[in-house]
Amino acid sequence: MSTLLACDGLSMRFGGLVALNQLSLSVNEGEILGLIGPNGSGKTTFFNVITGIYQASEGRVDYRGQDLARMSAQEIYRAGVTRTFQRSRLCLPLSIFDNLMIGNHRRLDHSLWFNLIRRGAFQAQFEGQYAAAQALVRTFSQSLSVRLFEPAASVNMIDRRRIEICRALISQPTLLLLDEPSAGMTHEETRELMDDILIVREHMPGLAIIIIEHEMNVIERITERCIVLNYGQKICEGPYARVAADREVQEAYLGTE
Ligand SMILES: Nc1ncnc2c1ncn2[C@@H]1O[C@H](COP(=O)(O)OP(=O)(O)OP(=O)(O)O)[C@@H](O)[C@H]1O
Ligand SMILES: [Mg+2]
Repeated sequence: MSTLLACDGLSMRFGGLVALNQLSLSVNEGEILGLIGPNGSGKTTFFNVITGIYQASEGRVDYRGQDLARMSAQEIYRAGVTRTFQRSRLCLPLSIFDNLMIGNHRRLDHSLWFNLIRRGAFQAQFEGQYAAAQALVRTFSQSLSVRLFEPAASVNMIDRRRIEICRALISQPTLLLLDEPSAGMTHEETRELMDDILIVREHMPGLAIIIIEHEMNVIERITERCIVLNYGQKICEGPYARVAADREVQEAYLGTE
């Protein structure tokens, strides 16, 4: 398997606080990688740095020959890296379809000329995108796929998460970053959501996924490899069973000697 993303010596400091400390890790093409660690260990900060929300204090993030640490959030999105957020970031009054199109702007023509004058082409683009959005949502939920013109506020938590995942997928990324997708879900909903992620894997076998998750049964079930962070440093790496048995990992989680 070839490496898709590799970061080297990546640090992120907020004043005196070191949220990422000389972090080096890699993700292979098509791999599902779990990123775990106690609260405040730097997991979300890692996503924020590799998606251009924060500018790394030092280090490189190689992705297909480009250094993501030197690129803007827009450039990183256009390069094929998309994400969901730990706290839901849907525009609730907008329709589900409009929320999905927010994630699709690299594949839409936004010019005034196109939108005002070329009405036929605009209509064709709209219909094509609607069909694509509906097909994508249908892979997760048939009932949700026929509600695309309803406001996002009208659906329950698990469907909101599905919309957020679809918004990250609609631009056909190469690397998908999921920040605690099961946060706020019941066990049953978490299981459904994990089935959804396995569906994504089936439909898009080339897509690499990094998933941050506190639910260890989720990590065990869907990841091929895990990386554990503690105080912004990588303390362990390997298949879930090996990582879960590691003494330093257990101490980091339990805070015991
Ligand atoms: N914008 C910021 N300004 C200052 N400190 C920050 C900022 N973002 C994160 N931090 C700090 O960096 C550290 C890592 O935070 P981060 O959100 O990455 O942790 P996390 O591993 O995602 O935790 P959780 O599991 O609770 O989501 C924390 O101490 C946090 O307070
Ligand atoms: Mg976090």
